[in-house]
Amino acid sequence: MKSPMVKELKEGQALRGALFAVAQAEVRQARNGEPFMYLRLSDRTNAVDARQFERAELPGGVAPGEVVRVTGSYSSGYGIRIDHVERYTGQVNFEDFLPPCPKDSVQLGQELKRVLATIEDPWLSKLLAKFMADAWEDFQKWPGAVEVHHAYVGGLLEHTLSVVRLLDTYATLYGVNRDLLLVGGVFHDVGKLDELACKATVLYTDAGNLFGHTYLGAQRLERYATHVEGFPEALQAQLCHMVLSHHGNLEWGAVVTPMTLEAFLLHIADYTDTRAHRYGAIAEAQREKGLTFGQRDRYLETRVYSPRQQTNGEMPQP
Ligand SMILES: [Fe+2]
Ligand SMILES: [Fe+2]
Repeated sequence: MKSPMVKELKEGQALRGALFAVAQAEVRQARNGEPFMYLRLSDRTNAVDARQFERAELPGGVAPGEVVRVTGSYSSGYGIRIDHVERYTGQVNFEDFLPPCPKDSVQLGQELKRVLATIEDPWLSKLLAKFMADAWEDFQKWPGAVEVHHAYVGGLLEHTLSVVRLLDTYATLYGVNRDLLLVGGVFHDVGKLDELACKATVLYTDAGNLFGHTYLGAQRLERYATHVEGFPEALQAQLCHMVLSHHGNLEWGAVVTPMTLEAFLLHIADYTDTRAHRYGAIAEAQREKGLTFGQRDRYLETRVYSPRQQTNGEMPQP
């Protein structure tokens, strides 16, 4: 295992050839007009800012997704002050750099397959078979995001399974087309396979930046459907609509707003899981730091309260 990890960095610690993944690399301008190099460095434990002053260009190979060796020092207010940085070309253990799935991803995969085996519609079953043959290998290890939620190996699978489980419950409550609902759930974020590149860090691809995963997902879905001879157009349109509208409204990246009950329920399930996950992650990070409240979170649009211990029904005193 590499050492030190970002999370272990201590005030004033000297770094001699420490390994980090590059999440971001650019030359910026200081207030005095002088150029400086800014890097966002990461590993599986966290990410940290790093700077080298009076540096007008990036060293060769120091680019997002690469691993670098850093010599310099760390301070908690500033991050890493770099004396020297170079691309690392030796053997890399990717598990050092990408956070692992907190759950057993093999079990998650089996659980999703078990639910999908209950799909009765023959067209949707054939579509799923195409998807499995083409993308299952990548899908089960893909991260769910660059940051915000499920930003770790297997995050896409974990999120997709949670969404599908929620949808399965909704299907019994609201009398909708269960097969359509669940398959829409499976495909809703499939565009992330094209939106994100999974190297030593998780990055947006050019297509990801230009089109986003809703459009890319609809495109993938269309590709699979054309490989199922005779796939009904109306069914394809409904599924595509679910993928394109799953973010709920245009400000959140939906191409259109949900116009069917299935599309609406998919949006709500996606919303529930992404938000619930973020509440949990923030509360845990705060607890680790001994904080009951942190900064206002821009995604949740609120501060998160993490009680120091179970209150057994007692309210904190005003
Ligand atoms: Fe999404
Ligand atoms: Fe999602």
